[in-house]
Amino acid sequence: MDKRGATLHPETLAIHAGYDPRDGAKAAKAPIYMTSTFAYESAQQAKDIHEAYFEATGPEAGKVAHIYTRLGHPNLDMVEARLAALDGAEAAAAFNSGMATHTAIAFANLRDSVVHGRPIYGGTDGLYNMLMPQLGAHSFSFTDGCDEANIMAAVNAARAAGHLKLIVIETPANPTAALVDIALVVRIAASLTPRPRVVIDNTLLGPLMQRPIAMGVDYCMTSLTKYCGGHSDLLAGGVSGRTELINELRLLRTTLGSHLDPYTCWLLLRSMETVHLRMERAMANAHIVSEFLRDHPKIASVTYLALVAEGTRERAVYERQCKAAGSTFAFRVKGGEAAAFRFLDRLRLLRFAVSLGGSETLITHPATTTHYSVSRELRDVVGIDDATLRLSVGIEHVDDLIADLAQALEAI
Ligand SMILES: Cc1ncc(COP(=O)(O)O)c(C=O)c1O
Repeated sequence: MDKRGATLHPETLAIHAGYDPRDGAKAAKAPIYMTSTFAYESAQQAKDIHEAYFEATGPEAGKVAHIYTRLGHPNLDMVEARLAALDGAEAAAAFNSGMATHTAIAFANLRDSVVHGRPIYGGTDGLYNMLMPQLGAHSFSFTDGCDEANIMAAVNAARAAGHLKLIVIETPANPTAALVDIALVVRIAASLTPRPRVVIDNTLLGPLMQRPIAMGVDYCMTSLTKYCGGHSDLLAGGVSGRTELINELRLLRTTLGSHLDPYTCWLLLRSMETVHLRMERAMANAHIVSEFLRDHPKIASVTYLALVAEGTRERAVYERQCKAAGSTFAFRVKGGEAAAFRFLDRLRLLRFAVSLGGSETLITHPATTTHYSVSRELRDVVGIDDATLRLSVGIEHVDDLIADLAQALEAI
């Protein structure tokens, strides 16, 4: 909403939400508050601020006051307000990485069991299948996120093992852009007593291209390192949702020490202003690149969402929940790992590096990098084989990208 109460568009919120020049020294752009601690006005106010922070009661409750930067600071408030506005949520919390965000959600919720979709980012897979089991949690997964029976099988197994607290989905999923039907998962959660909370990792499309809060998820998590940060020069994560859930995470963040620092918040505020422009350009490039790859004789398959066949179940889910196809997808070269490696080593412009969502185009070989610790059997089930490459298309001139891909494909 603006000052007159009018609803603003996401592109406008990305620039204006979270900072008002009237709040400080009238600086048109947000200053950085490089401090680790904040001065109290009086002994009584110090006591009141702490009461407000820990109990949400007393004369300072509901007011903006800061104590110590690990607990919260003005630049964090700005990022969180902006992210909440973009996600259409009551509140948001920002962390020093996407994984710190996932970890806080897991710690805030885990007692008995969790269900998650696959494929899912390797770090999240490790969190729920290596770390959390050591703390007594049981983890169950499904591999067809558009199929009710497949999801229900995991849900029933989880409920047999204990109280099901969380359903975690990533859609589109890293690296194949596989879809999970968000409305279906929300409906399944609502049919259960007690109702598990639904977490979505929204990293691949981000707040501008997919709005899961409006679809009923409880936590909308995003690795802000990717498209929102957008320049491959910072690490950050965020989660939005109802105030009560976000406050729980903020208190936990204070203990974990995983707040986002003032300078990175400031960089992120700057980056968020242009996320829609960068994504639009990257997606326009991705459309052209995906069609080039699809039609190339040395390419076995391409998973770009815009190319999903009309009339399929996945197409219907895509059209229902995604505003656009994003710019990260996978493709498979003919000839297995040896061919994939020859192709990668011949690239001159595209950067061979993990991560995604930067202004530059990045390419990686998931089986031997991001998904190194995922077993071959599981990779086969979710479609990550030795010939699979993940591409995060950036905002360069598309002709240069295609020229580089074309010359590298000659090496196969
Ligand atoms: C889909 C997805 N979620 C979460 C993460 C973790 O984010 P971060 O690297 O910011 O911790 C990544 C990182 O690649 C990712 O791709």
